Amino acid sequence: MTLTPQLLRWLQSEEAAPRLRALTEKPPANSALLATLTRLRREFSPEQASALVSLARLRQRAEKKFGVRASRMFFAETRLQQASPHAVARYTARRYATFASVADLGCGLGGDSIALAEAGLSVLAVDRDLLAASLVHANARALELASAIHPVLADVTAPAWDVAAAWADPGRRTATRRFFHPDALQPPLAALLAQRCRIPHLGIKLMPGLGHEHIPPGAEAEWISLNGELKEAVLWFGDLTSAAGRRATVLPAGVSLWARGARARVLSPGDFLYEPDPAVIRAGAVGDLAAALGLWQIDPGIAYLSGDARIITPLARAWRVLEHHPFELKRLNRRLRAMQAWVVAVKKRGSPIKPEPFRKRLYHHKSGRPVIVFLTRVANRPWMIIADAGWE
Ligand SMILES: C[S@@+](CC[C@H](N)C(=O)[O-])C[C@H]1O[C@@H](n2cnc3c(N)ncnc32)[C@H](O)[C@@H]1O
Repeated sequence: MTLTPQLLRWLQSEEAAPRLRALTEKPPANSALLATLTRLRREFSPEQASALVSLARLRQRAEKKFGVRASRMFFAETRLQQASPHAVARYTARRYATFASVADLGCGLGGDSIALAEAGLSVLAVDRDLLAASLVHANARALELASAIHPVLADVTAPAWDVAAAWADPGRRTATRRFFHPDALQPPLAALLAQRCRIPHLGIKLMPGLGHEHIPPGAEAEWISLNGELKEAVLWFGDLTSAAGRRATVLPAGVSLWARGARARVLSPGDFLYEPDPAVIRAGAVGDLAAALGLWQIDPGIAYLSGDARIITPLARAWRVLEHHPFELKRLNRRLRAMQAWVVAVKKRGSPIKPEPFRKRLYHHKSGRPVIVFLTRVANRPWMIIADAGWE
């Protein structure tokens, strides 16, 4: 179902409101889809009927990103995929606290505009796409933020507005493709950087795999994860930077670690294995994490850390090591049998083995002791670590 600005207008009408409310409260399951559509088509056009059902189902899906707000918001499939999760948008919006107004360059359905407006800013929400501009307008009204969010239909590379601070979230995908290079973004990174002469205080959200070579001198680069999942890298400029350099931030804890170039000691695995948060790894701060927590690396090229004490930190997950050996499948199965183990997961770093097919080749004791098998390298040799999965 393709949402059009006309259908979106209808979805906001008094005629659609009662049906939309009921469907939002109880979106039809797949098995009830056809019957629901047939019933709705007695009252509405086929396009209106599918628009009602799609929106109700998207609102349900959007709860993960927008929480309770989702039940009042308006979505289109690809726009929802592109939207910043509210927890991350709320965090990045905090940087603009000293500004009264901000431009959201490429606002989409308004994930970031909403967080900026809720932080007390007046937001110029700019997008060249009519549906995006209509969605941000609808969402601003639905969330009673219409006096703070001002939608503008325009190309951000030919700006006609006067603001000192801006946030930009260029598109990373089309319906069929995902882009992995800053030059391929919509608009490209270079076009956004060119705006710095007019807009000195700029935040640009980029793909989490951003290479360090793309960080301009003087910028702050921040990798942000949410619940252990890497979400984005942001380049900060002007008064929005806290310092030049790279840092990792993990949400919801809100804890940050700067990459200062510390090098970790390299030793064989101790009693605990630590998996640094992906934001720490991407920011290049694994050595700094080791230095901060008194840990060591188990191999100079592998981002697993180890230590003899259990440390609770939002910056890494910890596993108790039961045993570790040079990698050998027969020996691994022998040890798993001796432990009466149930392998809940195989994780790897620095090993070419595919975890899931490999897990099927391992000894399993149903209702046995839950363990995780790590396939990695120690002193540049393939290594296996059996860790306690019932403990974290
Ligand atoms: C990743 S989405 C933004 C998502 C938004 N931050 C959110 O949380 O909902 C990127 C947006 O940039 C818009 N866009 C891409 N190139 C643009 C341009 N040159 N001018 C204006 N908008 C543009 C796209 O239409 C799209 O809506």
